[in-house]
Amino acid sequence: MSFTYAPAPESREIVTLQPSYDLFVNGDFVPALSGRSFSTTNPATEEPLADVASAGPEDVDRAVAAARAAFEGPWGKMRGSERAKFLFRIARVLQERAREFAVLETLDNGKPIRESRDVDVPLAAAHFFYHAGWADKLEHAGLGPAPRPLGVAGQIIPWNFPLLMAAWKLAPALAAGNTCVLKPAETTPLSALLLARVCQEADLPPGVVNVLTGAGDTGAALVAHRGVDKIAFTGSTEVGREIARAVAGTGRRLTLELGGKGANIVFEDAPIDQAVEGIVNGIFFNQGHVCCAGSRLLAQEPIAEPLLERLRQRLDTLRLGDPLDKNTDIGAINSKDQLDKIRALADSGEKEGAGRWSPPCRLPARGYWFPPTIFTNVSQSHRIAKEEIFGPVLSVLTFRTPAEAVAKANNTPYGLSAGIWTEKGSRILWMAQQLEAGVVWANTFNRFDPASPFGGYQESGFGREGGRHGLEAYLDA
Ligand code: NAI
Ligand code: MG
Repeated sequence: MSFTYAPAPESREIVTLQPSYDLFVNGDFVPALSGRSFSTTNPATEEPLADVASAGPEDVDRAVAAARAAFEGPWGKMRGSERAKFLFRIARVLQERAREFAVLETLDNGKPIRESRDVDVPLAAAHFFYHAGWADKLEHAGLGPAPRPLGVAGQIIPWNFPLLMAAWKLAPALAAGNTCVLKPAETTPLSALLLARVCQEADLPPGVVNVLTGAGDTGAALVAHRGVDKIAFTGSTEVGREIARAVAGTGRRLTLELGGKGANIVFEDAPIDQAVEGIVNGIFFNQGHVCCAGSRLLAQEPIAEPLLERLRQRLDTLRLGDPLDKNTDIGAINSKDQLDKIRALADSGEKEGAGRWSPPCRLPARGYWFPPTIFTNVSQSHRIAKEEIFGPVLSVLTFRTPAEAVAKANNTPYGLSAGIWTEKGSRILWMAQQLEAGVVWANTFNRFDPASPFGGYQESGFGREGGRHGLEAYLDA
């Protein structure tokens, strides 16, 4: 029996969009010296949302100078217990304005309101709360008796979790006593600009947080600026490589959080229904725009067929459509470029001989959409088994023994995440030791907590974010 749902759209009244947005520098919104701007759109409707300033090198100069002055002035001299109060305030205002942030994030990004409301915004607030607690305890972080902040941090973030990534970057940097210049992604600048308003509301001293909107050239100018002491980047491996080259030999600090091709490994003794939910959450959460997505399912041969059968049934119940509808499971692809990339990779899967399946589902006429898709008969040499698709596409492979599962899971240049599904505790521990991945989930997937460090191996980058380990990236011991 299948149920039908009446639409339950969240109202967008709570969000007041400005026709245009300036840069946030030294505590104020100021027009870009570059004189340039770009438009950000709602990917579910292709409706332009606002015109946003595009920062040029002269704007980067100005923001870095403001951040330097704040570091050498009030913020750098402030006691940790005082800094903590600002982080607590930001966290509280985020909670108070949670619905506004959720709706804005969904409009600009295309992700379902259920996810922005239940995951992105609460986790962003949790990161500020968690790091507020560290601000006056840094000497107990195990990084030496008197760790010092690095100075000005240049932080470049992607479009898949715009507000959450801003929180991941800002909260530890500020807790450790640094000042920040944040560059959000060009398709999703609006929640970072609202967060800048929250910084004003929290009376954060001018220059402690600066937000420069713009595209890759703005990011590159920030990376090149010699006044920046530390670069933190989350995004593609390709751009990560470019940044590593630019920073090499300058003595400046760098952390990179890049792509992934995570294996979700299901053994024959796994609790099947739970595993199916974990597989769905692993690859269809946030349309698969997740660096640690479980994009490769490794199923043990005896259960591969029944598991796939249940998975197909479950996919049949997923609801794709209006991201503001509270019943929606799968929202829009973030941009036309990303949609083109997903389409090209999915087509390559078919050409290389894998079996493609999607549940019957009608895609809206406007906007960027891709149906949840499963590929079977995937071999390790297929592009869809090797390359990050960053979309709602699952590649299914099989294995016989735990050793074969490990070999296949590790057969990737990446190493960000993995999942293990089995009843057997000893096997979980053995597998977790063998898997070359920064995060290994057992009988769950895509679980995040600010106290838990997150980061990769190999081409997934280096450095950790979150937890005690994450503080290290912003401190000189
Ligand atoms: P991207 O790496 O180009 O963009 C990420 C951020 O870097 C954005 O803020 C962008 O403006 C900035 N940027 C771009 N070029 C730069 C440069 N030369 N110097 C400094 N900053 C620069 O990622 P894009 O093009 O949006 O996505 C391409 C692919 O990258 C995706 O299909 C996905 O596979 C992967 N990706 C991975 C992410 C992750 O969380 N690991 C996030 C976003 C994308
Ligand atoms: Mg947008």
